[in-house]
Amino acid sequence: MSDEQKNKATSLRPLIRPLSIGRVQLANNLIMAPIAGTTTGPFRGLCHRFGAGLTVSELISAAGIVYDRDFSKNRRYLVRGEAESPAAVQLFGADPKQMAEAIRRLLSHPEYGTYELIDINMGCPVPKVVKTGAGAALMERPDVAEALVRHAVDAAEGVPVTVKIRSGVDERKITAPELAVRLQEAGAAAVALHARTTKQRYAGKADYELMAKVKSEIDIPLIGSGDITDSSDLERMHAIAKVDGFMVGRAAIGRPWLFTELQTNARTPAGIKARALSDLLAGLTDLLGEKTALAEIRTQLAAAVKGYPHASLWRGRFFTASEVGELKQLIDEFFVDETALD
Ligand SMILES: Cc1cc2nc3c(=O)[nH]c(=O)nc-3n(C[C@H](O)[C@H](O)[C@H](O)COP(=O)(O)O)c2cc1C
Repeated sequence: MSDEQKNKATSLRPLIRPLSIGRVQLANNLIMAPIAGTTTGPFRGLCHRFGAGLTVSELISAAGIVYDRDFSKNRRYLVRGEAESPAAVQLFGADPKQMAEAIRRLLSHPEYGTYELIDINMGCPVPKVVKTGAGAALMERPDVAEALVRHAVDAAEGVPVTVKIRSGVDERKITAPELAVRLQEAGAAAVALHARTTKQRYAGKADYELMAKVKSEIDIPLIGSGDITDSSDLERMHAIAKVDGFMVGRAAIGRPWLFTELQTNARTPAGIKARALSDLLAGLTDLLGEKTALAEIRTQLAAAVKGYPHASLWRGRFFTASEVGELKQLIDEFFVDETALD
């Protein structure tokens, strides 16, 4: 590390620090956001390898858990990654009793019951979820939202329950501050706020001023989500909102080493990136089988090469690989090329 990098890393130290959520101690407050299609066990394990303090599964239907007798339908979301601890499992639902039942079922499972935290999704904007009254629909159903948390806390028997919310439904219905207070009263151990409205989905800028307002209303930890791509974003979010933790989303897709970079401000050597993506490929192959792994790793590889010269050429190569061995070789070749570009 150069002196400049060292100074920068030192100046970030007060921002990046241990965080307690209920009874769970995180080594640091950098959290990999739940991302459907990305945050599988193998990927979450890599995030921990690179220094994330917490990872979260993608959203999983509480009803699905209740009716999935042998867990075969949800296995792919629930299998834990290597050294993936602490981690949260994220559930969505709109029926408090069913949420409680799903949690009890999950916690009685020898492997899937080992998650250290349970997170409830109140931010998903996808119509399939919203029309059932779950996800972001809960931003304007505070009574149901509160009941969901009360039932979940009761069923979780000491496993901390957290909630991930949005700003509100649209700019005229910003409900996050009042809702966060009610969730705290219901027993939530922390709130993560993706500071965009449901209507915005992922467009526009996350509203750090609103984050500051939510932070001023609650005593439990507030985790900020939205637009973190490098350490200057951590500084900006912290300066405005004084959040307790930082959730990194799209910027870490295909780039789990970002968690080291945020802490050191040093660039990750190409060989380490190649190994990480090869390990991801191997992990996904174990979990999903070769064909599905080859398809599902594409988004992450596309994200990993974004911004590099010839990115589209490499994307094309990655997408046409028909065997794991071939794709692994392509990953290595790409990063040898990247080293040559340094
Ligand atoms: C493709 C995609 C899938 C997502 N899936 C989930 C999810 O399963 N659960 C959830 O709470 N948030 C989900 N999110 C939202 C992210 O966790 C995060 O809050 C959002 O992307 C904003 O952070 P960012 O600007 O750092 O990406 C998803 C976002 C994207 C782009």
